[in-house]
Amino acid sequence: MMENTLDLPKDKKPYSENDLGRTDILPSYRVDLRNYNEKEYNKFVKMNRINNWAMVSWKEVGRPFEVKKYSSDRLLYEKEKGKEIRPFTSWKYFNKAFHEWFIKDVPTEMKEQKQAFIASLKTFNPNQIRKTIGELAKIQLWNYAHRIQDGVWDPRGKRALFEGLDISKPRILFLGAAEGYEAMQLAAMYPGAEITMVDYDEYCKSTRFEEFPKTYPFLGENQSTGHQKVYYKDDFTIDYVVDDIRNLPYGKEFDIVLSVGLLEHFPDAYKPEVMEWHRKFLKPNGYAIMTTPRKQLRSKLYYNVMADVMNHTYRELMTIEQMGLYVYENGFDIKQHGYIKVHNGIVAKPR
Ligand SMILES: C[S@@+](CC[C@H](N)C(=O)[O-])C[C@H]1O[C@@H](n2cnc3c(N)ncnc32)[C@H](O)[C@@H]1O
Repeated sequence: MMENTLDLPKDKKPYSENDLGRTDILPSYRVDLRNYNEKEYNKFVKMNRINNWAMVSWKEVGRPFEVKKYSSDRLLYEKEKGKEIRPFTSWKYFNKAFHEWFIKDVPTEMKEQKQAFIASLKTFNPNQIRKTIGELAKIQLWNYAHRIQDGVWDPRGKRALFEGLDISKPRILFLGAAEGYEAMQLAAMYPGAEITMVDYDEYCKSTRFEEFPKTYPFLGENQSTGHQKVYYKDDFTIDYVVDDIRNLPYGKEFDIVLSVGLLEHFPDAYKPEVMEWHRKFLKPNGYAIMTTPRKQLRSKLYYNVMADVMNHTYRELMTIEQMGLYVYENGFDIKQHGYIKVHNGIVAKPR
């Protein structure tokens, strides 16, 4: 087992262009400098299958699936306070819970959970046994989804979604940036980028982004040679703003406005406003780039088992057709669309 790069000295860059094609499974996450081969590409990336969005209708594609199983923290909060949790508070719960999983030493924890399960069997206490089975299921699923499959970060999939944009040295605005992963992946692909990350949960700047490993390699492009190049967090120009998206003072000054897992947290009545957030800060020829989790059986299972980690906020799972309709109906032309392991992705321009 390789050392977790989280534990390496901060200034050390463990991967270089000599490592292209390499992937390593570290205790907390996978490092992946591979490109897709054709078989993998066709299995996990499906791009641009709809020719004319004007022909797609809600009647044909149905509605998104609402995830109704909430975290026990949310349920307890609402029971104690006697009122519905506010979105801002629910995001604070979510970000803390999610981050705690990203920093786990997964193999060690799997071993401990197995031992706890065996010990619980000896108690003959059904509640105790049920609880340890639940914990074991969560760590096993997290291991598979994040560490083995790399479904959350999915650098190869994200690169496939984001490639081919007509921009250089872009200014990128990341709405609801959390740890900021996708803006960094874009900045590796389009060198010279200036990133503005925005999240109203201060914990995202102080902890999720701050603790994102400085040793994690992003595969991108070398501007001068056109070859692939490995970048790290500290190579990028990043300004992290803690504020509500509704308060942002910017004009139409960004080449890319990005969100990852934002649209699906708003019921339909609010979706036009969310789409407007993606329009109002874009330069005239700029790109809105959005991803949302896919409506598929394995994702439903994931959000069910991981409810305590993931489900503090209103959440929908949708198909690429449903997501595309929200984007198209709210005044955007869809330039690229597709889905990767667990997310849909759309690159669009305001009409
Ligand atoms: C689901 S997360 C994004 C997914 C992310 N990739 C992750 O790993 O958690 C959405 C983020 O948007 C932020 N957010 C939601 N509404 C916001 C608003 N009105 N202003 C600023 N940030 C907001 C939340 O705090 C949260 O960190």
